[in-house]
Amino acid sequence: MSSEGTEPTSLPSRLLEISSSLLIPRVDVGMKSLPPIAIYLQSDTRRWELLKSAGQAFSPLVLSSHPRVWIDEKDLHHLPEAIQRSLSPEKRMQSLRVEALAVMSKLFEDPNPANIKRSTQIVGSLVYVMTREPTTFGFLAKLSSHDPYTVQHSVGTAVNCLMLARKLGITGEQELEEVGIAGLLHDIGKTKVRPEIINKPGPLSPEEWMEMRKHSDEGYKIVEDCADLSERTKRAILEHHEDLDGKGYPQGVPSQQTHLFSRIVGLCDIFNALTTQRSYSNARTPFEAFALIREKMSHKVDPLLLRELILIYGGQPT
Ligand SMILES: [Fe+2]
Ligand SMILES: [Fe+2]
Repeated sequence: MSSEGTEPTSLPSRLLEISSSLLIPRVDVGMKSLPPIAIYLQSDTRRWELLKSAGQAFSPLVLSSHPRVWIDEKDLHHLPEAIQRSLSPEKRMQSLRVEALAVMSKLFEDPNPANIKRSTQIVGSLVYVMTREPTTFGFLAKLSSHDPYTVQHSVGTAVNCLMLARKLGITGEQELEEVGIAGLLHDIGKTKVRPEIINKPGPLSPEEWMEMRKHSDEGYKIVEDCADLSERTKRAILEHHEDLDGKGYPQGVPSQQTHLFSRIVGLCDIFNALTTQRSYSNARTPFEAFALIREKMSHKVDPLLLRELILIYGGQPT
């Protein structure tokens, strides 16, 4: 082992156990070098030590004496799909969640085309997992939990959009990707709204509210010329705050005239906001959120979509 490899770590929840053979596709002279990730060994039942740091050159042959190694879950996406497939569905969903949140943090710092593209790849991974492995479907719900608000809200909304779209019979990968990406990017225009308004822990003044409402138009402007995104994804970013009664924004048209994807995102946006912890309000349970939507927001949402979302969460639509 390397002399550098003695730094112990006690963060097992972030470490994934994999077979080292997965890191060595072919043992021959022309063998590829190891991916640029840190690799750990277990030193006793609760301790891990660093075998190789991310930047360290390392002969793959050394791994032949260590059949099992550990990697940080945030590095999983550096590895070939075959490795990712060898992990348990739960571990893969955990790592996707970590990666999705990291990508979304970067996107909200700087919504440039490269970062938008990276975020769409995340949705591609979610759709891949969901369509090929139905057993992992349940883990998707875990994606909607507890991180800085807008980033977490975006990932959570995307996940609910994917689940709702599937419940509505949308099964094509292309369509699922598009609706998932719409959920992920729906509030991208908030990057153009001043942070003191975004983070204000209480009701907005009329002027602040005017500025906040611009995020739909601003979001559309950000993605308008992005060749990686479909027209219906762009429409959903523009139309996700149009209401059933035509009193939403920015166009003030009845939402039945908007794209189905816009209505899916609109409902999942409200649902995710209500079920997420904020500095000034506790997270509601899905059932409390459905009751509130039915009582106070039925003029906003598509009733047929609401019914299907309630069914997904095991509730009784009335
Ligand atoms: Fe929004
Ligand atoms: Fe939103």
